Amino acid sequence: MDLGSLEITGGVPLHGEICIQGSKNAVLPILAACILGEGVCIIENCPQIRDVADTLEIMRYLGCRVQCAGKTVQIDASRVDAFEIGGEEAGRIRSSVLFLGALLGRMKKAVLPLPGGCAIGERPIDQHIAALRQLGARFYLEEKITADAVNLRGGRVCLSIPSVGATENAILASVLAPAETLIEHAAREPEVDELCGFLVKRGAQISRTAEGDIRILGGNKLGPARYRMKPDRIVAGTCLLAAVATRGTVAIRDFPCRELEALTEVLRDMGVSVVCGENRIEISAGRPLCAVPYLETAPYPGFPTDLQSPLTAVLCRARGESRICETIFENRFRIVPELQKMGAKIRIDGRCAVIKGLPALTPAKLAAPDLRGGAALVIAALQANGTSVIRNTEYIERGYEDICRDLRLLGAKIRQVV
Ligand code: EPZ
Repeated sequence: MDLGSLEITGGVPLHGEICIQGSKNAVLPILAACILGEGVCIIENCPQIRDVADTLEIMRYLGCRVQCAGKTVQIDASRVDAFEIGGEEAGRIRSSVLFLGALLGRMKKAVLPLPGGCAIGERPIDQHIAALRQLGARFYLEEKITADAVNLRGGRVCLSIPSVGATENAILASVLAPAETLIEHAAREPEVDELCGFLVKRGAQISRTAEGDIRILGGNKLGPARYRMKPDRIVAGTCLLAAVATRGTVAIRDFPCRELEALTEVLRDMGVSVVCGENRIEISAGRPLCAVPYLETAPYPGFPTDLQSPLTAVLCRARGESRICETIFENRFRIVPELQKMGAKIRIDGRCAVIKGLPALTPAKLAAPDLRGGAALVIAALQANGTSVIRNTEYIERGYEDICRDLRLLGAKIRQVV
């Protein structure tokens, strides 16, 4: 695989206004949902990222007819006739585990390789299996995951942690089951609601209770749907943090400010001016930044784990000492040694990173360790006095359509080098 590199010259405040690509973490479960039922689905504003390309490969392998035209993807699942996903396809992305629920829903059977861990953590799927078992699925776990759900009945699913993927698998498996399903302690991430919105558009009856549980009145046949993806919350947050890091002024158009409330609250505490409109966020970070004495990542609506690395990069130049604690994944500080190459005063203390802000960072040759860590290193390089190079950027391309394009639009000196 071509491990490209990015060359970034820091010290340029970002200015301007941009729109954000469609959401990776919403489109992946929505693509899996396209195999539920025979109608043709058209997904607009689909992000052109590696994880989507790999998912569409899996869908072709299952028998879907997939047509792509720019950011519009058309999927005809009428001829889906397979229920086994090969190791090569599934091994490429962890989110292939979402086909477990979709295949049980459609085919009443599923065979997938055990999704391995990844750079940021062990990524178990015990919650997925427990939820699907509560819906009547049976599992045989040897070197593969083999499941059948001839008696898929719907019913009460009680998650012990608000796992995003387990919530989505429970929805995908139960939406066709002829019964009512209630998913208790469901994840509250907006991407879960977007999956529900897509399924409702196809004719499903899904709603959230006042307690945040998800109620599904199953048994509906799902029809065709045309659906436009909403903007990616994490890409939006990454762009805002890049603007803050460079002390710039940036606005994001057509974005629901409330979805990034946990981030905007932190930015205000850091001394950043944040203007939240109905569908627009504008930040201005002209003044020196204050450190964040203590912050924990948490399930939505808490501070998102996916923005922890990008924020950590920004705090390397905030005044004072910050402590950022990662409560979701066990190995999400892999950028620390890379930031230390830039002179950052950062150390790990248990599940926390402790950062003493400095006036400046030194440019360096860096290696992206994972998707969000790679984006964080871009942010670090944007604040360095000079030119840095970041390799292994194929990690970044998994979730960011074109980070060069987006940041260049805001005035950054950044280019792809092979
Ligand atoms: C989704 O992953 C996102 N991925 C992640 O984004 C995101 O970080 C995560 O949710 C949390 O918001 C997609 O949506 C494709 P979880 P997911 O199940 O579903 C533990 C990115 O950078 N857990 O909510 O895998 C798990 O180990 C990616 O875009 C179990 O113990 O997250 C983790 O500690 C990274 N057993 C915690 O729960 C299980 O069966 C949260 O995981 C499942 C999860």
